[in-house]
Amino acid sequence: MVAYRLTQLLALIALGTLASPATGSAAGDPVRGKREFLRCAICHSAEANVHKAGPSLATIYGRKAGTVESFTAYSEPLSGAGIVWTEETLDAWLEDPAGFIPGNSMKASGIKDAAVRRDLIAYLKELVGQNAAATIGSSQQ
Ligand code: HEC
Repeated sequence: MVAYRLTQLLALIALGTLASPATGSAAGDPVRGKREFLRCAICHSAEANVHKAGPSLATIYGRKAGTVESFTAYSEPLSGAGIVWTEETLDAWLEDPAGFIPGNSMKASGIKDAAVRRDLIAYLKELVGQNAAATIGSSQQ
């Protein structure tokens, strides 16, 4: 009986983890994603409005492609792509940037490991939450 209850409890915990919006449906790990972000950091910052060769990725998740304010170096193929950055589009982009949006100017090779892409996307998702919280916090002051 006790063992049965324990199994049930563990099943509930597992479901809760999968369903939690903070960890993402495919359970990417934002902590690992933050480490993986080092391979992006040469061209992208995780701080709002701090741009390098590429735009800040602080608020990229859920945003329409090519619309980060104050970044002025978008290629036409990217700004005209008409897509929104979701788990699906980010996954396709990170796997093969040149194949997903031909002619774009992100000169980075694709990431073949799906788990690494999931972790990165979980991190990008978390960044948006943090930046939204920071914005709300500052507007209330
Ligand atoms: C060599 C530099 C470079 C590296 C490395 C790089 N990027 Fe980029 N990235 C760019 C540039 C430049 C653009 C803008 C491309 C364009 O306008 O065609 C871009 C665009 C993007 C966009 C779309 C931005 C928008 O506003 O729509 C995303 C998302 C993105 N990169 C994610 C990543 C991630 C995640 C990594 C690491 C896995 C990465 N990039 C690595 C240079 C880079």
